[in-house]
Amino acid sequence: MDLHDKVIVITGAARGIGEAMARRFARERPAGLVVSDIDAEALEEVASDIGAFPVVADVSKEQDTVALIDAAEERFGPLDLFCANAGIGIGGDEQTPDDEWQRLWEVNVMSHVYAARRLVPEWRARGEGYFLPTVSAAGLLTNLKAAQYSVTKHAALAFAEWLAITYGDEGIKVSALCPQGVRTRLLDAADEFRTLLEPVAIDPDDVAEAVVQGVAEERFLILPHPEVARYFQNKANDYDRWLGGMRKLQRNLFGS
Ligand SMILES: NC(=O)c1ccc[n+]([C@@H]2O[C@H](COP(=O)([O-])OP(=O)(O)OC[C@H]3O[C@@H](n4cnc5c(N)ncnc54)[C@H](O)[C@@H]3O)[C@@H](O)[C@H]2O)c1
Repeated sequence: MDLHDKVIVITGAARGIGEAMARRFARERPAGLVVSDIDAEALEEVASDIGAFPVVADVSKEQDTVALIDAAEERFGPLDLFCANAGIGIGGDEQTPDDEWQRLWEVNVMSHVYAARRLVPEWRARGEGYFLPTVSAAGLLTNLKAAQYSVTKHAALAFAEWLAITYGDEGIKVSALCPQGVRTRLLDAADEFRTLLEPVAIDPDDVAEAVVQGVAEERFLILPHPEVARYFQNKANDYDRWLGGMRKLQRNLFGS
């Protein structure tokens, strides 16, 4: 899909990958660019910088997601592309309390369900529409020391895959953006993420460039770190060997 003249929404666009996508997409001269985030102040700055339409929304709440899409459509007409980019990450394991598991589930997974629930009927009627969730390489592989992040990103990928299969014949397109480390606040916020991902981290602008290319080619998997395709293949080829390799990496990085 060519982004020119399209109506686009990007969530989590006040900083990081979402901001970089917004800035990069603006150069393609879309018909309408809607940026959304929970952080009103930072969002306003990005929006006024690139002439985008800001809508404050907490995407973990269905009513906010519906209101965001309603506001975008009221302003620019039917949406062509919805980038479900907002996401949160933190380390954790099976001892992490339920409310933390729930928080990641709502932001990293249910927000995608809420957007699709609102958009899919209208996209099916139109015979077109493009859903682009920011998942993570953690959805294909795993993120050491971050159980709830890995699990919710696997779920987000599963949902994207399911949408692509279920509605692909009706003209709905889906791409899952699966970067490894990217230099953003999310990476800085948790030691577990920094230790694993900083050595391979790229700039958000590189991710945005990969997205523009991936959307132009309408590829399901968008991999700003191309080596992730090889890791994913290794996992599929020999799961036990891959698990052994991941345990070794964990010992090397974290000592246990
Ligand atoms: N940084 C990385 O290494 C990396 C790697 C793979 C995937 N990702 C994914 O990329 C996406 C963007 O992350 P980032 O690295 O740019 O992080 P970031 O923290 O820099 O930006 C995330 C943005 O999402 C917003 N946000 C958080 N919760 C929200 C909510 N409930 N409603 C609306 N907005 C909300 C934040 O305010 C923030 O502006 C996430 O889905 C993340 O999981 C990041």
